[in-house]
Amino acid sequence: MSIPPVIRTEGLTRTYDAGRNAVHALRQVNLTIERGEMVAVMGASGSGKSTMMNILGCLDTPTAGTYWLDGERVDGLDRDARADIRNRKIGFVFQGFNLLSRTSAIDNVELPLLYDHSGRHLDTQALAAAALARVGLSDRADHHPSELSGGQQQRVAIARALVTEPALILADEPTGNLDSRTSVEVMALFQELNEQGVTIVLVTHEPDIARYAGRIVEMRDGRILRDEPVSNRHDARADLRALGTAVEEAAV
Ligand SMILES: Nc1ncnc2c1ncn2[C@@H]1O[C@H](COP(=O)(O)OP(=O)(O)O)[C@@H](O)[C@H]1O
Ligand SMILES: [Mg+2]
Repeated sequence: MSIPPVIRTEGLTRTYDAGRNAVHALRQVNLTIERGEMVAVMGASGSGKSTMMNILGCLDTPTAGTYWLDGERVDGLDRDARADIRNRKIGFVFQGFNLLSRTSAIDNVELPLLYDHSGRHLDTQALAAAALARVGLSDRADHHPSELSGGQQQRVAIARALVTEPALILADEPTGNLDSRTSVEVMALFQELNEQGVTIVLVTHEPDIARYAGRIVEMRDGRILRDEPVSNRHDARADLRALGTAVEEAAV
């Protein structure tokens, strides 16, 4: 048996009923993303990126069309079933980090395990510690978000997304609140996780960020305008080393 794609949609359509005018936010989108891919979704404001991410993330349902997530058909599921599959299959990373401010880094990372009532996660603190180690923040486990830099907070959020070993990480503008160097650091972490086999779909409006992905899907007016592999994929770790050199040279 072959491995199913992580994402497969056929004719995915989402129409918002806004008063007397229907808004066609997604029009017949066909998209397949295989396990192990790292895909950047681009497009102007209003092109349908968030609508698509909400449906791919099982936060919303399509008006028409089919959606298979990791081999399971999910377009017709009700709210509870969507919450369940979301917890099992998807890790989310947001522009604003969305960490609980009165909660330590490790407890933030542990939360998705506590929401999961399947009983499949036994030692939740140990799993949270392992996820923090994966993002290089073991030494910050007991710090609260306000004691961490923006880049560190986003790494905590990535550890929280990883802790359940999801089939898919969905990131909506994950570098939108970060300066350019910190953005490259976060992309280096995503590239490292992707090399380890994690499937990542991220929304960004920055072409320089999209080039760290292996494939770019560009949307316009609810349709996929362009869907291509990145020919000269950038290496975020190499860019960081170059930035480090530039900073040192400037300091001399
Ligand atoms: N809840 C909603 N009700 C009505 N229209 C919406 C709603 N959400 C989004 N839209 C409309 O759907 C289109 C796509 O929006 P969106 O998916 O947010 O695009 P993007 O994330 O690319 O900016 C836009 O025309 C937007 O105004
Ligand atoms: Mg949006």
